[in-house]
Amino acid sequence: MTERRILFAVRDGDFAAWKAAFRQASPQLALVKQPESGIRYALVWRSPSELYPTLPDLAVIFSLGAGIERLLHDPAVPRTAAIVKMAEPGMTASMTQYILWQVIRHHRRFWELEAAQEEAHWLDQDYPAPWNRKVGVLGLGTLGSAAAATLRDFGFATRGWSRSRKAIDGVACFAGDAERDAFLDGLEILVCLLPLTPQTTGILNADLFARLAPGAALVNAARGAHLNEADLLSALGSGRLAAAALDVTGVEPLPAEHPFWHHPRIFITPHNAADIDPATAAAEIARQVARFEAGQQLEHEVERDRGY
Ligand code: NAP
Ligand code: GLV
Repeated sequence: MTERRILFAVRDGDFAAWKAAFRQASPQLALVKQPESGIRYALVWRSPSELYPTLPDLAVIFSLGAGIERLLHDPAVPRTAAIVKMAEPGMTASMTQYILWQVIRHHRRFWELEAAQEEAHWLDQDYPAPWNRKVGVLGLGTLGSAAAATLRDFGFATRGWSRSRKAIDGVACFAGDAERDAFLDGLEILVCLLPLTPQTTGILNADLFARLAPGAALVNAARGAHLNEADLLSALGSGRLAAAALDVTGVEPLPAEHPFWHHPRIFITPHNAADIDPATAAAEIARQVARFEAGQQLEHEVERDRGY
């Protein structure tokens, strides 16, 4: 393969670090900062719409994130270019850690112990064995399937839900709208790792909460718009839900006056559940460019009509 240029169009991205990562990943790939004629590949994240008309030869858009809803909503993004979702080991590992941490935190109700410590109270606390704890993962894609497999490995009674049927050893897999209620029925900890599409917007709402076990916990690491925030506050108020961990919120950064910040049962992280390792991400992009140049099908390509 002769040298290929990839435009780096990542808002606030560290160009020097990424350039070094690409140099290490493949001598045939050169990361460039300015749009040049003939550019076929771009690495983008929160890039301005004005960029796209300057790239008439763009063939593949590599998204720096897994969630690509912004790209699909931007009419300037050429439909002739393929969009590839980020799927790389660094991101999967960090998301898996976050999910495991939150599920264990709710399983062991560590937040009760944190509150007890505030009052110097030696709380005598019981909790079930993990195989008696019903945990469900909405979305069994790159991130959801890794999270579900790890939860299974830690002994949890794990279920997963996706659009098409999956088979993950030791995970009860449900598929499609027809099996959604069976998936949700009696779950004690629910994790959301769905993409944001018209079908999934607002999916975390009062109707869904009513299907979980009373006092269930919610972990949302997907997108803020999956959650109906008012429904979450009422469910926590009534005890229908016991707690929530939110890495994502409707408005980001979460405004200082937002009630989530000071709610005793809501744990906020600043949309950093998963982070990308430039070294492994550059290696993954180099692998995909080589596939593309060899006339093979790209992996993790967005299906525009499906919305993810
Ligand atoms: P992915 O590989 O595209 O997987 C999406 C999963 O959701 C698939 O299993 C898909 O089913 C399922 N799905 C989509 N629409 C559905 C529907 N209507 N009903 C049932 N299942 C549906 O995505 P990913 O890479 O795992 O990432 C998931 C999301 O995580 C991203 O879109 C992004 O919003 C979020 N994210 C957040 C962070 C963070 O730091 N907080 C970082 C990265 C990603 P099929 O398998 O049948 O297609
Ligand atoms: C981050 O939120 C991503 O979609 O990768």
